[in-house]
Amino acid sequence: MSNLKVAVVGAGVIGITTAVELQKQFRNANITIIADKFNTSTTSYVAAGLFRPGTSFSGVNEDITRVHPHIVRNHYIEKIVPIYRAATEEELKLCPGNWKYGSFFTTFLTQCSLYLPWAAEKFVSAGGNIVEQQIKSLSSVGLEYDVTVNCTGLGAKYLCNDHKLVPIRGQVVKHDITLGGCRQYDSYDLNINKYDGLSIRERCEALVPSLQNAKTVAQRVVLRPHRDTVRVEKEVQKANGKRIKIVHNYGHGGYGVTTAPGTALHACQLVKEILMGNSKL
Ligand SMILES: Cc1cc2nc3c(=O)[nH]c(=O)nc-3n(C[C@H](O)[C@H](O)[C@H](O)COP(=O)(O)OP(=O)(O)OC[C@H]3O[C@@H](n4cnc5c(N)ncnc54)[C@H](O)[C@@H]3O)c2cc1C
Ligand SMILES: *[C@@H]1O[C@H](CO)[C@@H](O)[C@H](O)[C@H]1NC(C)=O
Ligand SMILES: *[C@@H]1O[C@H](CO)[C@@H](O)[C@H](O)[C@H]1NC(C)=O
Ligand SMILES: *[C@@H]1O[C@H](CO)[C@@H](O)[C@H](O)[C@H]1NC(C)=O
Repeated sequence: MSNLKVAVVGAGVIGITTAVELQKQFRNANITIIADKFNTSTTSYVAAGLFRPGTSFSGVNEDITRVHPHIVRNHYIEKIVPIYRAATEEELKLCPGNWKYGSFFTTFLTQCSLYLPWAAEKFVSAGGNIVEQQIKSLSSVGLEYDVTVNCTGLGAKYLCNDHKLVPIRGQVVKHDITLGGCRQYDSYDLNINKYDGLSIRERCEALVPSLQNAKTVAQRVVLRPHRDTVRVEKEVQKANGKRIKIVHNYGHGGYGVTTAPGTALHACQLVKEILMGNSKL
């Protein structure tokens, strides 16, 4: 695999994690990350970075959450994280509002403001290339590389008319900590909304009254690339008589930090399969 050339399009948590994983598995390959936005300009940067896969309770209203213990329980992580249990009465009293049920758990936090530059540096020092460029069509990339890995987040919607890919707008309030947020399905509005900001503060201050004195240093809005289901798939297209080999890895919605390592491993497996050439696709 020594002259293998791989392009990874996208430098968010999905693209960078996938590129680093490819480097591990294809030791002599020449791997290039191509993206038009890095670090603070990505959706990934705004993420809280909690390891916390979603469950069906997301979106359910507060009243239901207060009275139904089975709804606040997260079946995906309760066997994975070191501590996962129902909150005690005393813990619930720490949060004003007469809550009846809640969960207490410990988990990982991958803060993208640290992770993205750290992983990019690791990638470059292991021989990876980074190119700042906006991709307008696939053929230009596909003709130059043996395989193209598509980690463009919501960008894939425009590159490919994928109507299943929908933004879930998120706005957060930044102090030394992040307060948030909101989940607005199918909203493309990248402007900061005053009322969303006020509502976030009101809800957080109700839970943690000491926040009332905290100064807002910034607010951020980004669009989570939601797709039901995440697309981690092989595709072969034809351009100028050449077979263009693509592996897609996008549409992680509100859970890209959590699922980046797993989907990156799966995408690497698909890169191997598509390079074997006997893929039916
Ligand atoms: C408020 C909020 C809180 C969140 N909290 C969590 C959390 O606690 N845990 C969790 O797991 N997830 C969380 N998320 C979700 C997480 O942010 C996303 O799932 C993740 O960032 C998606 O990563 P990505 O790499 O696919 O996309 P992005 O970070 O958007 O990266 C896309 C990349 O593709 C590039 N690109 C796109 N189109 C083109 C093109 N045409 N040419 C060149 N480059 C292109 C861009 O430049 C960019 O580098 C949260 C999201 C929000 C909004
Ligand atoms: C790797 O690929 C990039 C992009 O095509 C190219 O600029 C670079 O010269 C290549 N590096 C090596 C060592 O072949
Ligand atoms: C921004 O991102 C690029 C590539 O991901 C990286 O090389 C660079 O060091 C980063 N810059 C900062 C200031 O973090
Ligand atoms: C991403 O995938 C879509 C869907 O196949 C494709 O049309 C688009 O060109 C891809 N983008 C890149 C940069 O590979």
